[in-house]
Amino acid sequence: MNILPPAPEPGHAGAIGVARARLEGPGKVTGAVRYAADDPVQDLAFGYLVTAPITRGRIRDIDAATVRAMPGVLAVIDHTNATRLNPEAGSYFGPDGNLQLLQSAEIPYAGWPVAVVVADTWEQARHAATMLRIDYEEFTHDTAFRPDHPAARPALDLFGPEAALGDLATEFEAASIVVDERYHTPEEYCSAMEPHSATAWWDGSDLHAVDTNQGPWIIAGALSALFELDPARVHIRAEHVGGGFGSKGLCGPQLILAVMAATVTSRPVRITLTRNDVFLITTMRPPTDQRVRIGADADGRFRALHHEAAFAVSPLVEYIEGCTELTKTLYAARAIHTGLTVIPVDTVPPYSMRAPGAAPGSFALESAVDEVAERLGIDPVELRLRNEPAVGPVSGLPFSSRESSTCLREGARRFGWDMRDHRPRRRPDGALLIGTGVATTSFSVGAFPSSASITAESDGTFTVAIGAADIGTGARTALTAVAADALGVDIGRIRALRIADSDLGAAWSAGGSRGTTSWTWAITEAATRLRARLPAAALPATVTVDTATLLGDLAARERHAYSAVFAEVAVDTASGEARVRRLLGMFAIGQVINPLLARSQVIGGMIGGLSMALHEEGVRDRVTGRLVNADFAGYHIAAHADVPDIEADFVPDYEPGIPLGVKGAGEIGNVGTAAAIANAVWHATGVRQRTLPLRLDRLL
Ligand code: MOS
Repeated sequence: MNILPPAPEPGHAGAIGVARARLEGPGKVTGAVRYAADDPVQDLAFGYLVTAPITRGRIRDIDAATVRAMPGVLAVIDHTNATRLNPEAGSYFGPDGNLQLLQSAEIPYAGWPVAVVVADTWEQARHAATMLRIDYEEFTHDTAFRPDHPAARPALDLFGPEAALGDLATEFEAASIVVDERYHTPEEYCSAMEPHSATAWWDGSDLHAVDTNQGPWIIAGALSALFELDPARVHIRAEHVGGGFGSKGLCGPQLILAVMAATVTSRPVRITLTRNDVFLITTMRPPTDQRVRIGADADGRFRALHHEAAFAVSPLVEYIEGCTELTKTLYAARAIHTGLTVIPVDTVPPYSMRAPGAAPGSFALESAVDEVAERLGIDPVELRLRNEPAVGPVSGLPFSSRESSTCLREGARRFGWDMRDHRPRRRPDGALLIGTGVATTSFSVGAFPSSASITAESDGTFTVAIGAADIGTGARTALTAVAADALGVDIGRIRALRIADSDLGAAWSAGGSRGTTSWTWAITEAATRLRARLPAAALPATVTVDTATLLGDLAARERHAYSAVFAEVAVDTASGEARVRRLLGMFAIGQVINPLLARSQVIGGMIGGLSMALHEEGVRDRVTGRLVNADFAGYHIAAHADVPDIEADFVPDYEPGIPLGVKGAGEIGNVGTAAAIANAVWHATGVRQRTLPLRLDRLL
């Protein structure tokens, strides 16, 4: 029986491109939706972390006997009695010592979990945890990020080799002007609203967990490796997640410790990190020190680009902050050289946060480009247009689609850029100085293997299952539209879209701007195969597809999303305070699946960029090495009053290598805004700011 009406071609049924509110929105605002810490579980026990008050050292002794006898206490787990973990387990960056919780007496950084107290109630666990007596031996520590550190060394080249195109010395020699400056960005923290929480329990030989993470299938794989379990017996759900920003891409401490606690107590155990713990132990963006040199001809054409970035790493895991990726692709030049250096620090391990690499890298590169415009007296938009490359400047590969000029031109038109006097300090407004700035940027596009199942039900509806995660982006809503169009049916015929369960098969995480591309690929492929089978199939009929062998050679072209961000700031000459008055972002992110949700997402990214420009800074005590501002009172994030009129829109774009032409909107929104704001502050004041955040004391 053919239940399908005569259908348009896949991708043209009309669900894609339509603004729809998110499906779970009413559930979120009425409290019906369950986050990881809300999920009702029978016979639940609670774990509370005891964390190291010292920055480096070892545990001499833990006296747990008193605490074990306290009311409601079920277990005290420390390095002497914890489950042994596989020391080789890790992530994309290799073995990760930060996962090796409670495995030894060593303290690698301040806040490191040294014990978990498990009790019948959360209050009992917390009270007992405060009573645990631990004797520490302190070692010296080195938490200060110093670019001239004697142990500085080149980063691994996991993202491909650094650029070494042409002869820098010759091109700098021939250039009319050379800008050579250093830029600094501080420690920054992901700071998702929902704290990390996990509830774990055993059911016979199967392990179950409700966790907060960016990709349940990836996390289940990492957890299986860590505990040396059969992956088929590990089941992880993360149905609703209150933001991740990179911090929930890994197997989190809440999950590892909840599994240990459930194992020891034979009870379901929930561990929810305190806000303080979230700051101290769920990774950070590393501080960076970057040098950018640009040599240009008098007409603004770049001859030489040289970008060297140093960033912090922990001895526990060899993470790479790809600050120089943009410099390999954004502008044409005869010589382009880049380099990445790692500086060891005894802090929480740096890891991916909100456009990793690109956000700090773009601040340095796009500030330096603005300095070239300043030196040559050229409009910064015009300067960028003059340096557009025809092909990948280092790779020599063609671009799949490149709408950076369209973003710049359309953004300039809407922002009213042609009214700008390019000289600085020309717009006083009482005690304020007004200025405008621009930055352009890109973020790479790609896809990873994922699987999807679609069932044609007997009543003419369809059920879709994919291990995607919706971390607040609207992925659930967007993928429902993808499924409808791929099947060629009205969106009302998608009965259900199941996501965020590791049992749904392999799926890439909501990370690296590769969630939507990877999941869309699997859903469209499953839909195509189901449509082919339907005329003859008995219902219900299910098709399952894994795209592992279907992704093709995406590396044959350079694939990027693009944006141009324009900012207007007002700087108070009395207080040094900089406030953003207007932000406008034009984005080329391929085909836009849901304009309402995509706009919300890139606006969220731009607010992250604003926050990076003006507020965010992890501050360490030089003596203790401890993060001083490990909470929302001390670590400032843009609040409503800081967020001005923001506009964001999309230029027509289509990614030819990926089904439905999608590129991904996750990271690109975060990139560019910080440089646009810093460039606007220069335009307002005539003083260049090369260190983030743009604090009052730096502006005065
Ligand atoms: Mo994203 S910062 O790659 O999770």
